[in-house]
Amino acid sequence: HPSNFQMEEGSNLRRANCRAKGGAPGFKVAILGAAGGIGQPLALLMKMNPLVSVLHLYDVVNAPGVTADVSHMDTGAVVRGFLGQPQLESALTGMDLVVIPAGVPRKPGMTRDDLFKINAGIVRTLCEGIAKCCPNAIVNLISNPVNSTVPIAAEVFKKAGTYDPKRLLGVTMLDVVRANTFVAEVLGLDPREVDVPVVGGHAGVTILPLLSQVKPPCSFTTEETEYLTNRIQNGGTEVVEAKAGAGSATLSMAYAAAKFADACLRGLRGDAGIVECSFVASQVTELPFFASKVRLGRTGAEEIYQLGPLNEYERVGLEKAKKELEGSIQKGVSFIRK
Ligand code: NAD
Ligand code: LMR
Repeated sequence: HPSNFQMEEGSNLRRANCRAKGGAPGFKVAILGAAGGIGQPLALLMKMNPLVSVLHLYDVVNAPGVTADVSHMDTGAVVRGFLGQPQLESALTGMDLVVIPAGVPRKPGMTRDDLFKINAGIVRTLCEGIAKCCPNAIVNLISNPVNSTVPIAAEVFKKAGTYDPKRLLGVTMLDVVRANTFVAEVLGLDPREVDVPVVGGHAGVTILPLLSQVKPPCSFTTEETEYLTNRIQNGGTEVVEAKAGAGSATLSMAYAAAKFADACLRGLRGDAGIVECSFVASQVTELPFFASKVRLGRTGAEEIYQLGPLNEYERVGLEKAKKELEGSIQKGVSFIRK
């Protein structure tokens, strides 16, 4: 008798073939670090996304359990699990989008940069796999410190000769999600009606909300501006402290990652006018990487928007952000070039 696993693989294959023959739309998505605090709810949300036809779940632990669990959801995507380095290449082959939440999270008292020692090496290994097995995939990089891991990924891809800056996107969506929530609270609006651009990077003062550009148009007192800027910049730390040693944001992050991945997939499909903030290779400032609004299309980040008019408070914030970002970017680049 065939095992459950063989039966499921057989029917998965039939479903995947059916889709291929019928030409049904759908993209192949891999999550690396899929058994983690972010990875699990993200796997759930991606399994619910109708644009996903195949979902690969890779981790160095517990991937089979998470895969068995998520695969029972009666949504369209075919789910396959991959455990450990020997299965990384199979996990990545043929993927259109790779989302990376692999790596250690912060504990109280740590900065994101304190994660560099462990996460830099993890990101390097995973990106070497991407360069080899799916060099044309869009990459959504979540692992911290994002301000350094994105430059690390770029250097790995350059070394492999596969680098396309349009396809490497650092995920800063959680900063936008938080900004929308906190601003809506102050304005007494539904957060779904609010759009706050957040530029710069993803750590402390490098997170720069542009409150002068909030939609719908509104104005804030100096006190409100300071309160909102601090809360948005320290949103991650707020969660790390509340979790008291049990990790950092996972659920709001999975939501933000799923929202960003969906925007990337709609862009890949050819939808017009998909614009989100992301940390990308950029000429918006003198720094080689910077987060700002980008237009997502069939080839990734097809257009990177200028920051637009800033007020004095934001101009001061921008200078602070650039100073810290420069060091974090350099640290990532040197890790690979050294
Ligand atoms: P977690 O520890 O719960 O999960 C991480 C997962 O990565 C684990 O399952 C672990 O087994 C896996 N992993 C470790 N090494 C791996 C490797 N070499 N290959 C594949 N998987 C590997 O952590 P988490 O809470 O899910 O956070 C993950 C990362 O995301 C952290 O670095 C965290 O700081 C970052 N993060 C970023 C943002 C953002 O806005 N960009 C937000 C929240 C968290
Ligand atoms: C966040 O913003 O929640 C993440 O970057 C995790 C962290 O360490 O704060």
